Amino acid sequence: MKKAKLTFEDKVIDLDVITGSENEIGIDISKLKIKSGMITLDPGFKNTGSCESKVTFLDGENGILRYRGYSIEDLANNADFLEVSYLLIYGELPTKKKYRQLLSDIQERSVLDEDVKKILETFPRSAHPMGMLSCLTSSLVAFDPSSVDVNDEEEMYDAFLNLLAKIPILVAWVFRRRRGLPLEYGDFGQGYVENVTKMMFKMPNKKYVENKVVVNAINKLLILHADHEQNCSTSTVRIVGSSQAGLFASISSGISALWGRLHGGANQAVLEMLEAIQNNGSNISEYIKKAKDKNDSFRLMGFGHRVYKNFDPRAKIIKKAAHDVLYDLGIDDPILEIAKNLEIEASKDQYFIDRKLYPNVDFYSGIIYKALKIPNEMFTVMFALGRLPGWIAHWREMRTKKEPIGRPRQIYTGEKLREFISIDKR
Ligand code: SDX
Repeated sequence: MKKAKLTFEDKVIDLDVITGSENEIGIDISKLKIKSGMITLDPGFKNTGSCESKVTFLDGENGILRYRGYSIEDLANNADFLEVSYLLIYGELPTKKKYRQLLSDIQERSVLDEDVKKILETFPRSAHPMGMLSCLTSSLVAFDPSSVDVNDEEEMYDAFLNLLAKIPILVAWVFRRRRGLPLEYGDFGQGYVENVTKMMFKMPNKKYVENKVVVNAINKLLILHADHEQNCSTSTVRIVGSSQAGLFASISSGISALWGRLHGGANQAVLEMLEAIQNNGSNISEYIKKAKDKNDSFRLMGFGHRVYKNFDPRAKIIKKAAHDVLYDLGIDDPILEIAKNLEIEASKDQYFIDRKLYPNVDFYSGIIYKALKIPNEMFTVMFALGRLPGWIAHWREMRTKKEPIGRPRQIYTGEKLREFISIDKR
């Protein structure tokens, strides 16, 4: 085991060094406080690893993303979302037999208690779908108490399939609720993504005709969003699960964390930004200037990343898919041109070059969702549906490794001890 030495005042502390399978190096500080009385400080955990994980590998400098060793390019171009979900959770691509069993097991669980509809109907039509999804996911605890505290593999498999079966129905229902459409069930036996698409888009007044371009686009987007190691929402799922809170409560907390506009909510913010640019005469340089102005809270949404200091590999795939989907659907959306021109302008600007700010996964995805007639406020819900298997995979990894409850420390900088003064003397 390699060692690192920490010298402070008259102390020299030896710390173990962990080397990952892709040669990432981490200093193990799990005994730092016992050995030295000191802790580390790292707001936003930019330099701090929370765990060792086998699920996903990210190389931010070289724009590499792999799920269980398979490149995101390979998976996005060749796999289907359900087999990628199984890969993330169990570490191997399923055989044809296992895949058929998976789909049948999901089909068996793809019914929601009718009372869930009553909860949904209590929301105002204008409620944000992410708020509805988070609440409804949490409510599943009441209808599936056996899926709450799962410990052995059999219980976990059942609970995971409950989520993979029920969350897409909730996604379709929140989408349809806002549009005043009847709530649809589908048939997962027709195919996982095929059924997600049908539950969302089936109209009550005519026969549903599947559009393969739409199914393939949604399949690719779900795969590209399926996992991303210890991002904000996945870390939330892990830390909530580490308190022995149930699986559904942990996933519901992940949905809430993803909603933030600096995280999964960025895809909705990107479309709103591009539409604002379009409405303001497509004056791109004005928005680049605003993004650079420290006195302006505006940021170029869909740009920058905590880990990628190069082009987000997912953004490259989505940019090409956006072009292909619009072409296949015969849509000429000026928003795509505005996005491309914005990317070109930013790529030439020293501010963005110096800070290594490139388009991330959220920059082009909304253009595809828009072409598929999915409204802006549903974009992050689609992100959540994609990220579901990643959240499940990390929750399972944390639980099976019996990781300790997450509890960061702090450095206190407040008042020293002082005496209480009664109110009549203040
Ligand atoms: C996702 O972690 C993941 O993996 C997330 C994700 C996943 O799959 O789970 O990839 C999904 O969340 C993608 C990111 C979506 N968010 C956005 O697109 C929102 C816009 N981006 C930024 O808010 C920002 O880039 C973050 C939040 C993504 C990253 O923030 P960091 O790493 O904390 O960067 P920072 O705030 O320290 O910024 C460094 C510098 C600062 O300038 P200086 O103080 O050095 O002068 O870069 C600037 C920032 O002001 N900067 C930006 C910017 N992003 C960073 N300036 C203008 N526009 C931006 N978008």
